[in-house]
Amino acid sequence: MYCMNRFAATAKIKSKEYLEVGGANFLSGEVEISGAKNSALVLMAASLLTNEALVIKNIPNLTDINVMSDLLASIGVEIEKTPKVFKLKADKLSKKKLKYDLVHALRASFFCIGPLLARFGSVEIPLPGGCEIGSRPVNEHIKALEALGANIFIEQGVVIAKLKGSQKKLKGSHIQFNCQSVGATETLLMASTLAEGKTILENAAQEPEVQDLVDLLNSMGARITGGGTKTIVIQGVNKLNGCEHTVIPDRIEAGTFLVAAAITRSPLFIHPVIPEHLRIVLEKLRDCGCLIETSNNSIKIIPSKEINSVDITTAPYPGFPTDLQAPFMALMTTAKGTSRITETIFEKRMQHVIELNKMGSSIILEGSNIAFVKGVKDLTGTYLTAGDLRSSAAMVLASLSAKGISRIQGLNYLDRGYEKMEEKLRKIGANIVRSQLLGSHFEEKSNSEIKTIIPHNKEQEVA
Ligand code: UD1
Repeated sequence: MYCMNRFAATAKIKSKEYLEVGGANFLSGEVEISGAKNSALVLMAASLLTNEALVIKNIPNLTDINVMSDLLASIGVEIEKTPKVFKLKADKLSKKKLKYDLVHALRASFFCIGPLLARFGSVEIPLPGGCEIGSRPVNEHIKALEALGANIFIEQGVVIAKLKGSQKKLKGSHIQFNCQSVGATETLLMASTLAEGKTILENAAQEPEVQDLVDLLNSMGARITGGGTKTIVIQGVNKLNGCEHTVIPDRIEAGTFLVAAAITRSPLFIHPVIPEHLRIVLEKLRDCGCLIETSNNSIKIIPSKEINSVDITTAPYPGFPTDLQAPFMALMTTAKGTSRITETIFEKRMQHVIELNKMGSSIILEGSNIAFVKGVKDLTGTYLTAGDLRSSAAMVLASLSAKGISRIQGLNYLDRGYEKMEEKLRKIGANIVRSQLLGSHFEEKSNSEIKTIIPHNKEQEVA
């Protein structure tokens, strides 16, 4: 395991909506991939580093983005929004204390600690706490900020950070992370750009979203080298300026649609995407028997009728992304043979196993982080409940391939990370609609009614 603690979290269903998915789908056509959620969130936080305007393009329309935007606005950031483009200006910040409810709703809001501390010398931010997939501590962020000269203590669940003594700025330092953490690397990148002197980050995360942040910060006038490697060097500067930046395509959304193609044995063309960001995922899909062609900004996938079982182990980039473990497991339930799926990043990231088994899959857990998935001939549609973002995507994918209708609750998770997922799927021929619960009940429809609300693109069995 990479740095993990044990934690028990309860899934919360906050949405009254559910997805109704007619099974045995065949998809075809093109899917347009949105901007990367995990990049956009941290790039928005970087706006706190300057009093000039930052224009960020290709921002996806997601609930997580809305929460981050509310959080920044709550401390005085002016945000002008047009579709996909945000102009953020942090020249008149009213406070440096962040609200508990907003930080708690979105772990990524903890990103604000680095820029606020670097620019203003103090910040108060509630601890983000654990979430559905694990404890997700922030000890690496805190330890490294202390190494830059911050005095940090936690009082009643609030992290209070100030520059030490008479220090006017953070001071560059040599930091060795104990684990490769995307968040801690990003926090330290933002904090050290305005520090005095040189900071070296060792065992830094290499994820493309980290590189995207490095590119943005360098466009703002920072002096950072080594982004995308395990050693990043930041030479502090006095001031950062505004700039324009375009968010990279979402590799996790792209990977999810590639799995949608594979699980329904359908050809798809996916763009824009940076195929290099999905190198290991494409390798695994090729091992499954999918034909894959790439250009510099697109991927074409043609799956074979029979998918081979393939083992995966999640790991920090360039390893197999933990965020695609659940979607890939859904695919393996339909493969020939047995695959071994090992989760090494988060300790509670196998919640989809129970739901997939409800659909007739044959998955056996060894401990809480290794799953043996024996492919079955057919999954069958049923009532499903999502417990976290990526497991909700796995349920949609499994439902696309299953025989019969599935109804998936817990869409508040899906909507955090997938922009208009059902619209994009419908456009390529999927039988999927969003419905409202009537009180606490599903709107029960007879088979013939379901056939009329779900546009069929091929004959299928209805449960
Ligand atoms: C980010 C992504 C998330 C992805 C994850 C791993 C965002 C907004 N989210 O989350 O989608 O699943 O990377 O690729 O970018 N850890 C510690 N101490 C720390 C920080 C992390 O022990 O202070 C551990 C975590 O518990 C976990 C591992 O490090 O076991 C990796 O976590 P990290 O890379 O920090 O994930 P996030 O940045 O939270």
